[in-house]
Amino acid sequence: MARSPHSANPARWAAVILPPLCLGGFLAWSAGLLTPASISPSHFMQRFHNAGAPNTGFRRAHAKGMCVTGWFDPSPEGRALSHAGVFKGEHLPVIGRFSLAPPLPYLPDNPNIARSLALQIRTPSGDDWRMALVDVPLQSMRDIADAYAFFKAARLDPVTHKPDPEAVKAYAAQRPWLNTAFEQAKAHQQTSDLTNDTYNSLDSFILTNDAGKKTAVRWAVQAKEPFRPAEGSGANDGNYLFKRLVQTLDERPLSWDIVATIAREGDPVNDPSQPWNDADQKVTVGTVTFTKAYSEDENPCGPMVFDPTILPEGISVSQDPLLALRASVYMKSYATRSAEHKTPSMVTPNDVANPTLTSDEKGQ
Ligand code: HEM
Repeated sequence: MARSPHSANPARWAAVILPPLCLGGFLAWSAGLLTPASISPSHFMQRFHNAGAPNTGFRRAHAKGMCVTGWFDPSPEGRALSHAGVFKGEHLPVIGRFSLAPPLPYLPDNPNIARSLALQIRTPSGDDWRMALVDVPLQSMRDIADAYAFFKAARLDPVTHKPDPEAVKAYAAQRPWLNTAFEQAKAHQQTSDLTNDTYNSLDSFILTNDAGKKTAVRWAVQAKEPFRPAEGSGANDGNYLFKRLVQTLDERPLSWDIVATIAREGDPVNDPSQPWNDADQKVTVGTVTFTKAYSEDENPCGPMVFDPTILPEGISVSQDPLLALRASVYMKSYATRSAEHKTPSMVTPNDVANPTLTSDEKGQ
C-alpha cells in the first residue's frame, strides 16, 4: 500500500503537535503547575503561623518589641561613601524598635534568644532610611528556597510547643553551605542585654557617592556600651531585657555606631550566609543615640514596617535575593496584622516612663 506523503513528513507533524503543546505548557507554567515550589508571601504567613505567630495583630516575626527614639549624627566618612541626604551632616530624628526574633509576642526574655534592632532615619526633605538588623553573625539561609525550608523547620510541635530539634538538624545537614553560619552562631558570645549588643544587617547594600563610585557594604550597629557577658538563665522577670533598656535610658542616653564593612574583591555580596574577609575595612558612617523608650502599643514604631529596601537615593539594594523576599513578606505581614484586633504587648505603657512622643520626636 502506498504511504501518504503527509504521514512521513516530520515538519508537518511538528507543525500540528507543537502549537497545542506550547500553549498547554504556557498555561501550566502560568498556573504554577511546572513550578510546584513557587512560593508567595502568603505561604510564609502560614509558616509563621505554624511557628507560633498568633492572629492578634503582631508582626509575624520579631513579635515582642518596644520603641525607642533619638537622633542620628552622621560622620564625614559616611558622606564620602554615599551622597544620601542622611549623611549631609544634619542631626536627624530616629525611631527604633528593639525586639526578640521569634514570632511569639509573649515570649519571656532569656539569654538564648536572638535579638534585633530596627531603625528609621529621616531627613526634613523626606529621605527615609530603614534598617532591620539582628545580633547573629551570619544568616542561616542564602536564598528563598532556604528561607522557606528554614521557617518550615521552625514549626512548633503540637505536643512540646517547641520546634522539632530533628527538623532543625535536618535543615542544617542538608545545607553544607550553611556550616560556617551555624558554627559562628554557636561560637557567638551573647551580651548581658539589649544595651550592649551589636546588630547586623547581614544582607549587603550598595552605596553611591557624589563621584558615582559604588561600594558594597554590610552594616553593623555597634554598641558603644562595654561588652558584658549574658548571665545564667536570665532572671525571673520575663521582661528583664526590655526593662534594663528602659531603666538605662531613664538614667542616660545610649549610643551605637553605624559601621559599614567595605566589601573587597571576592567577598560574596549577594549571599548573607557567607563570611567576608576579616581584614575588610570598617568605616563608621555615624552614631545613633537613643534617649527615650516607649511601649509599642501607643507609639509610632508599632504599626511601622522596617522594610530594609526602603532607602534614600545614594543607598540601594544589592542583588541578594533575600532583600526582595523580605520586602514582599514584610508588607504581607503588615497587611495581615493591621487587619486584626491587637491584644496588648508584653511590654506595656506601664513598664515605661514615656507614654507618648513629643512633637519634636515625631519630626514636626
Ligand atoms: C538578613 C536577614 C534578615 C534580617 C536581618 C531580619 C531582621 C528583621 C527585624 C529586625 C525585624 C523586626 C523589624 C521591626 O522591629 O519591625 C524583622 C521583621 C520581620 N521579618 Fe525579618 N529579617 C531577615 C530576614 C527575613 C526573612 C528571609 C523573612 C521571611 C521571608 C523575614 C520575615 C520577617 C517578617 C514577617 C517580619 C515582620 C514584618 C512586619 O510585620 O513589620 N525576615 N526582620
